[in-house]
Amino acid sequence: MNSLTLRRPDDWHVHLRDGAALAAVVKFTAQRFGRAIVMPNLKPAITTTALAQAYRERIMAALPKGARFEPLLTLYLTESTAPAEIDRARAAGFVHGIKLYPAGATTHSDAGVTDMAKVHGVLARMEELDMPLLVHGETPRPDIDVFDRETHFIDSVLAPLTERFRSLRVVFEHITTAGAVEFVSKARAGVAATITPQHLLHNRNAIFAGGIRPHYYCLPILKREHDREALLGAATSGNARFFLGTDSAPHERAAKESACGCAGMFTAHAAIELYAEAFESVGRLDRLEAFASHFGADFYGLPRHNDTITLVKESWMPPRVYDFGAGALVPFRAGESIAWRLAGT
Ligand code: NCD
Ligand code: ZN
Repeated sequence: MNSLTLRRPDDWHVHLRDGAALAAVVKFTAQRFGRAIVMPNLKPAITTTALAQAYRERIMAALPKGARFEPLLTLYLTESTAPAEIDRARAAGFVHGIKLYPAGATTHSDAGVTDMAKVHGVLARMEELDMPLLVHGETPRPDIDVFDRETHFIDSVLAPLTERFRSLRVVFEHITTAGAVEFVSKARAGVAATITPQHLLHNRNAIFAGGIRPHYYCLPILKREHDREALLGAATSGNARFFLGTDSAPHERAAKESACGCAGMFTAHAAIELYAEAFESVGRLDRLEAFASHFGADFYGLPRHNDTITLVKESWMPPRVYDFGAGALVPFRAGESIAWRLAGT
């Protein structure tokens, strides 16, 4: 197969940042995707509908001329989020989920939740208004091995939460383990998961190949090969609970290549191309469209797009760096080849 035309996909988990960084990266997402669920972990975090509205306007202003791209905003859940904020979010129409970061789990998560009991009132309101909960699923405790934090979270937080709030829609974001695949597959209706391209393409050896490679560090961290295989199996299974979410998370080069480097991989410049590689590796390109363009839209109750994109089997090389405001951004596969190209790029 030398070319592949798909209904236009959506990215159900992306970090677009703000200011000059936003201006540098949003075009990549808008070129490929019709919509994206935009993460709220700015500094300060997007905790209210009013902040989300202003952020939405900044995203729209940063789009290239003529782009037809719709940012779907999210609110950052804190222990002081009021249930009435969910009403405002629902009424606004542009907020499509509320993001739970366990405090300390990842980049800009210090305003997150330490005690789930403190957000039960908000979760109950979300359940009533059918506002999805988007979950960063890790228990960031220092006594828990970094490779076990997702598993611990499933048992201690996620399983009880999906039982307690039986009709709350939940997206378990960027799942990384075979255990998470099993949990989502067996969960009650209304529980889904996103999967990133890096977790489909790599296992944790990539972080240590010949030396320490900060550009392969993201959270949740890459796991074992059998986890990668389980994720690839889920993504290509045709099960509508699993859909595309890149978690593209740009950081300036110096913040990655550092004695204490930031978590996050930038994949937006080649997102759908990388998924095509992953699906092709198991002979399942025929299932890419549903994963990328149908299941997420259906879960979020949004229409599927009517236009298409075309991928061509033509290898290309991302540059060593992209401009990123004042600094530089090292993209995924910098200076290496990618097998598929988006037509027109
Ligand atoms: C994300 C970021 O940099 O904002 N980093 C990452 O490694 N994925 C935060 C997140 O989604 O965990
Ligand atoms: Zn993320």
